[in-house]
Amino acid sequence: MPILEVQNLSKTYRQMGGETTLAIGDISCKVEPGEFVSFVGPSGCGKTTLLMSIAGLIAPSTGKIIVHGKEVSGPPANLILVFQEFNKSLFAWRSVLGNVRFGLEARGNHSRESANKARSLIELVGLKGFENHYPWELSGGMQQRVAIARALAYEPELLLMDEPFGSLDALTRLELEDTLLKLWEELGTTILFITHDIEEAIYLSDRIWLLSRRPSQIVEELAIDFARPRDQITTRAEARFMGIRNRIYQRINSEGAP
Ligand SMILES: Nc1ncnc2c1ncn2[C@@H]1O[C@H](COP(=O)(O)OP(=O)(O)OP(=O)(O)O)[C@@H](O)[C@H]1O
Ligand SMILES: [Mg+2]
Repeated sequence: MPILEVQNLSKTYRQMGGETTLAIGDISCKVEPGEFVSFVGPSGCGKTTLLMSIAGLIAPSTGKIIVHGKEVSGPPANLILVFQEFNKSLFAWRSVLGNVRFGLEARGNHSRESANKARSLIELVGLKGFENHYPWELSGGMQQRVAIARALAYEPELLLMDEPFGSLDALTRLELEDTLLKLWEELGTTILFITHDIEEAIYLSDRIWLLSRRPSQIVEELAIDFARPRDQITTRAEARFMGIRNRIYQRINSEGAP
């Protein structure tokens, strides 16, 4: 059974003055357990709206979101969302350890075991030695590592990530892509990733859905079958990698976007 099914989702926002914005036209897709899938689409096409709908934070205008066979009507327990603006989502008054433990406490786990688990997640995201630091004492990349560790502490079956590396410098971004792939391979979580960086989507994913401009719909689905573990230099240098990238660029241009 798919872990997630989106069935004919559309979303129209209604503003106070009576105006409407059609954000999502008609989206249907299925995600199988353990997959790493991405949506790629131009700015403003409705990507955040799509993720917020899947996370049960926004009610769709039409269509259904089904997680593990059950229709979503509020935030499902087995799913977590890492927001686009991660620096606003960490708790400034909690240390790195405190932030990551929050994820475990939310699951009702206050034991010493939870501190150990939080420490091992902190180590997994490469922040060993920073357990007692506060978010404002960390770089942007380190803050995003904390946000990822905290999200994983919930042990979500489905991790939704909204352009999580969008505001990081290029080198930090490559490093975090590899950290994320390593965690995904070790923990077996299903990841639904959103980005407008085409190469990032190709590097990370098993499958990519290409979205049109607003009102968004899926214009193409691509299977990405490069061997894993992938490598920033050799995978990106493959002729097939360039071929897929060029194909996506052409497709986006022919859609008149971004
Ligand atoms: N709460 C809201 N009320 C009204 N309109 C909204 C609301 N949130 C988003 N929109 C509109 O819906 C459209 C899609 O927005 P959304 O944030 O989902 O796009 P996005 O693809 O995530 O953009 P970006 O790549 O810039 O993050 C935009 O035109 C936006 O103005
Ligand atoms: Mg967005």
